[in-house]
Amino acid sequence: MPEKSQADSPETIRNPQSAIRNQIIHRPPFIIHHFATLGSTNDQLKQMTDAPELTCVVADEQTAGRGRRDRAWHSTPGDGLYLSVLLRPALPSEKIPLLSLMCAVVVAEAVGGFHPAGIDIKWPNDVLVNERKLGGILIEGASVGADAPRLIAGIGVNLNHRSFPSELSKTATSLAIECGHQLNLPEFRDQLLVTFAEWYERLRHGGRLIIGRWQQLSSYAIGKPVVVTLDDEQFTGVTDGLTETGALRLRTASGETRTIIAGEVSRLRSGVD
Ligand code: BTN
Repeated sequence: MPEKSQADSPETIRNPQSAIRNQIIHRPPFIIHHFATLGSTNDQLKQMTDAPELTCVVADEQTAGRGRRDRAWHSTPGDGLYLSVLLRPALPSEKIPLLSLMCAVVVAEAVGGFHPAGIDIKWPNDVLVNERKLGGILIEGASVGADAPRLIAGIGVNLNHRSFPSELSKTATSLAIECGHQLNLPEFRDQLLVTFAEWYERLRHGGRLIIGRWQQLSSYAIGKPVVVTLDDEQFTGVTDGLTETGALRLRTASGETRTIIAGEVSRLRSGVD
């Protein structure tokens, strides 16, 4: 994939819905629709009902960026990668959760090219550097047809933030904070998309490679004492790998094995940290 800046984009069109000029950037197999400002890149892509698979929406800024569990995603202009990719994975429904693990692997590998130390993945898809959140994934359905579902993989990566609002200042980080210098956002985006294409191709051949790579990259995979918060319950345990559909196995204090399909997992702090 050639490394061109956004300014190299050959096409500039007017989006009738947002009345904001947007550019189309070709990065085969992806077509990137680049906007200056959007509410949420996921929402914009949902509205593009005729878009083919691997259409991407990127914005310099989101005014209503969303995270998992209805949290806001801090999306200040030019500071982060705010990217959504349209997918139609030919996967049985029970394996759809592998997509979110795949996206975390993609972000961790792309970040690894810039900052090799301290990268981790917290189940299922929070990308951390030195235990602070650097990237997150929000997978949403765009429509379910008779054949493969249309899904949107929303990816947010903190790149050039120098600081965060007080509510995030102890838990979030950016690559610029970790590396000590600003990053070229289009270059990072293109590198991430190259990695995305490679892993998406591997996903077509089954999920084993993704599970294996996720487990290599994540300190949460095996032997990590964690607290699990479900809608109506909280318990602790020690992680014991992933199932073949990407659920997290946990050994509880009573010796029981539990399988977590959805929920919030956090590191069990020892009391001294
Ligand atoms: C999370 O960790 O809570 C997921 C964060 C996902 C944020 C990205 S930014 C691009 C896309 N558009 C959104 O509104 N959200 C996702």
